[in-house]
Amino acid sequence: MSTLVTGGAGFIGSHLVEELLSQGRSVVVLDDLSTGKVENLPESENLTFIKGSITDRELLRNLFDSYRFDTVFHLAAVASVFKSVEEPVETHRVNFDGTLYLLEESKRTKVGKFVFSSSAAVYGDLPELPKREDMPVKPLTPYGVDKYASERYVVNSFSLYGLKATALRFFNVYGERQDPSSPYSGVISIFINRTLKHLKGEKTTIDVYGDGKQTRDFVYVKDVVKALLIAERDERTNGEVFNVGTGKETSLLELIKTLKEIAGEVPPVRFLPPREGDIRRSAADVSKLEKLGYSPSFSLKKGLERTFRWFAETLS
Ligand code: NAD
Ligand code: UD1
Repeated sequence: MSTLVTGGAGFIGSHLVEELLSQGRSVVVLDDLSTGKVENLPESENLTFIKGSITDRELLRNLFDSYRFDTVFHLAAVASVFKSVEEPVETHRVNFDGTLYLLEESKRTKVGKFVFSSSAAVYGDLPELPKREDMPVKPLTPYGVDKYASERYVVNSFSLYGLKATALRFFNVYGERQDPSSPYSGVISIFINRTLKHLKGEKTTIDVYGDGKQTRDFVYVKDVVKALLIAERDERTNGEVFNVGTGKETSLLELIKTLKEIAGEVPPVRFLPPREGDIRRSAADVSKLEKLGYSPSFSLKKGLERTFRWFAETLS
């Protein structure tokens, strides 16, 4: 039996792969390397890497015929909300059609469990906080709409076809290997990157869009991996959707303060006009997943320390 991780060469996927391998499991990664990197993956004889797209139906058919997958962790996606706005057709092919193709193959070959990575983006800008899974949704971008539609297909696969399937709504994930290189990269990776440049003597700034009082629920990637494994194992997750965050709301100003405590100093902060469509506040109610044993182990300080250390070692 093998476990399939789509998008396994990406940021979150590579942490999941690392954990699965450490448990002695046999892992197959399917990734087209559009944003992922082979270097993100550990060397292991239990790991098979296949370069290809989840939109290639023939490849998927052969893959699912060649292996018997106990679990499919589906993380492959065009993860950039910005790109989904610029290129909605191509994004939809990957983020929606790709999910449907994987569900079809999982159903056909009787995969034991299907775990899908959805996003807090499904909630959009509705004001009520913290977000509970049974609250209304209002996805505002092609990315959010495709995540929501995929999520419904995923959980309905349980009631319609008996495929054990779960969707997890990740909030703002951060950690080692997150790519800081685009202006739309996760804010923590960008701020750490700028801080390291500053410490090396380069002239740079931390750019805050708006007043810095906007909040996010920042969740460390290792806690996300724990949630993925609970979703895989616990039968009570079948046909259900769960938030994955910490339940804590942190403003960007608090984030910068914590980063300063860790790094000693940060570059000058420059306040720029707010980003269009930016959500003001975000926080997850994680009690539904907590009832199944989930408990985030990393405070922002602890997760940020580890992430900062990794970036410092890697970028030096
Ligand atoms: P990432 O870009 O690092 O990982 C996505 C991976 O999918 C990459 O390795 C990429 O090469 C691969 N991929 C893209 N298109 C593909 C295709 N057509 N076929 C095969 N592989 C393909 O992003 P990430 O942050 O690790 O995101 C992982 C998942 O979590 C995504 O589904 C994303 O939407 C979701 N998510 C992430 C966050 C976050 O804060 N990072 C928040 C909510 C949801
Ligand atoms: C994030 C995710 C998105 C997900 C959504 C769900 C990333 C990259 N994006 O979007 O996939 O669907 O959560 O809620 O993880 N900011 C700055 N300066 C910067 C960069 C960002 O001030 O240099 C601000 C942004 O304007 C925003 C906040 O920081 O207010 C967080 O931004 P970002 O990390 O891009 O995440 P989200 O927009 O929340």
